Amino acid sequence: MNLDFKNKLVNGDSLKELRKIPDETFDLIFADPPYNLQLKNTLTRPDSSRVSAVNEKWDQFENFKKYDDFTNLWLSECKRILKKNGAIWVIGSYHNIFRVGTTIQNLGFWILNDVIWNKKNPMPNFRGTRFTNAHETLIWASKSEKSKYTFNYQSLKCLNDDLQMRSNWELPICSGSERLKKNGKKVHSTQKPESLLHRILLATSNKNDLILDPFLGSGTTAAVAKKLGRNFYGIEKEKIYFKAAEQRLKKTKPIEDDYLDTLQNGRSKPRIPFGSLVELGIIKPGTTIFDDKKRINAKIMADGSIKHDQTEGSIHKVAATILGAESCNGWTFWHYYLDGQVVPIDHLRQRLVSNN
Ligand SMILES: C[S@@+](CC[C@H](N)C(=O)[O-])C[C@H]1O[C@@H](n2cnc3c(N)ncnc32)[C@H](O)[C@@H]1O
Repeated sequence: MNLDFKNKLVNGDSLKELRKIPDETFDLIFADPPYNLQLKNTLTRPDSSRVSAVNEKWDQFENFKKYDDFTNLWLSECKRILKKNGAIWVIGSYHNIFRVGTTIQNLGFWILNDVIWNKKNPMPNFRGTRFTNAHETLIWASKSEKSKYTFNYQSLKCLNDDLQMRSNWELPICSGSERLKKNGKKVHSTQKPESLLHRILLATSNKNDLILDPFLGSGTTAAVAKKLGRNFYGIEKEKIYFKAAEQRLKKTKPIEDDYLDTLQNGRSKPRIPFGSLVELGIIKPGTTIFDDKKRINAKIMADGSIKHDQTEGSIHKVAATILGAESCNGWTFWHYYLDGQVVPIDHLRQRLVSNN
C-alpha cells in the first residue's frame, strides 16, 4: 500500500490532488460531490424563519455543461486510481445523479446497483408545491464489467435479520450528537449519517482496505473507515470543513480488531462434503473432534458421519441435535488438535482447497 495515501486528509482541490495519485491505488471510493442544487431564492418556513439549505459557493456551477465537465474530470481520475477490482459509490439527488450516472457509464464503470436512501425524517416541502423530497440515490459501480468487486453478502444479510439486503435503505438523516455544530450552528449543511457509511463500507470493503473520499466535507467517510479498521484518504477544498474533519477524526476511536471480521460469503466457501476429507485420508476414522470448550466429543466414522453418545449423523446434524437447534454449521462447531492447538475443522477443507 502506498503510505503517502494511508490515513491522511488533504486540504485541497480534488481536480488537482487526484492527479497526484498513482494508478490503481484505492480499493473503494465514496464520493458525495456538489449537487449543483441551483437554489435561486432563500428558502423560508411558513413562520418566515430561514431554512438552512445548500447555497454555498462550493455547490455552484454556471450551467449543466460546466457541471458535466467537472464530473467527467473527477470521475476519470477516480477510475484511473481505482484498483482493477475496485468499486465506487456516488451519492446524489435528482439535481445531479442522472448526469453523474451518464458519466459513470460513459467512462466504462459497470453499474452494480442504484440504492435509494429513504430518509426517515426528511425536510418538509415548505411551500407545498411538490412532493416532499424524501430520498437520495446512490450509484454503486465497479471499475469495469470484469472487476471482482467486494460484496460481503452474508454480513449484510445478517445485518438485515437474515433477509437479503435490498436496494432501498431506510436510515435517518444526520442529527443529534453526531451532527457537528459550532456555536449552535451546523458546521456542514450536508453531513451524511454515519449509519449510511457504516453499511456501505461494511458491505463493499474489507478490513485494511484503502478508501478514498474526494469530497470529504465534515469527514464522515474517514471517521467510519477508522472505526471499521479501514484505511482512508480524504480531500476537502474548504478549510473550515477540513479542520472540522481533522478534529472529528482525532476523537474517533476504532472498534477493536477482534470484532471486525465479516461473515464469509457462501459462494466463496469451497463446496466439500466432510466425507471427502475422510475418503482422502486427511482426517482418520476414529479421530475425536470436540466443541471449542472441549466439553462435547464425537468420533469420526469411516463413512464421514460422526457419533456422539447415541446421536449419529453429519457434522451439522449431530451438532444441531446436541444444541437443540434447528441447524448448526458443523465446520465451525467441531474442532480438532493441530500442533497442540484447538482449530475448527473448517481449517481442513481450506487446506484441501489450497493444496489443489
Ligand atoms: C456534499 S458535500 C460532502 C459532505 C460529506 N459527505 C459529509 O458527510 O460531510 C461536498 C463537499 O465537497 C467539497 N468540494 C467541492 N468541490 C470540491 C473540490 N473541487 N475539491 C475538493 N472538495 C470539494 C465541498 O466543500 C463540500 O464539503
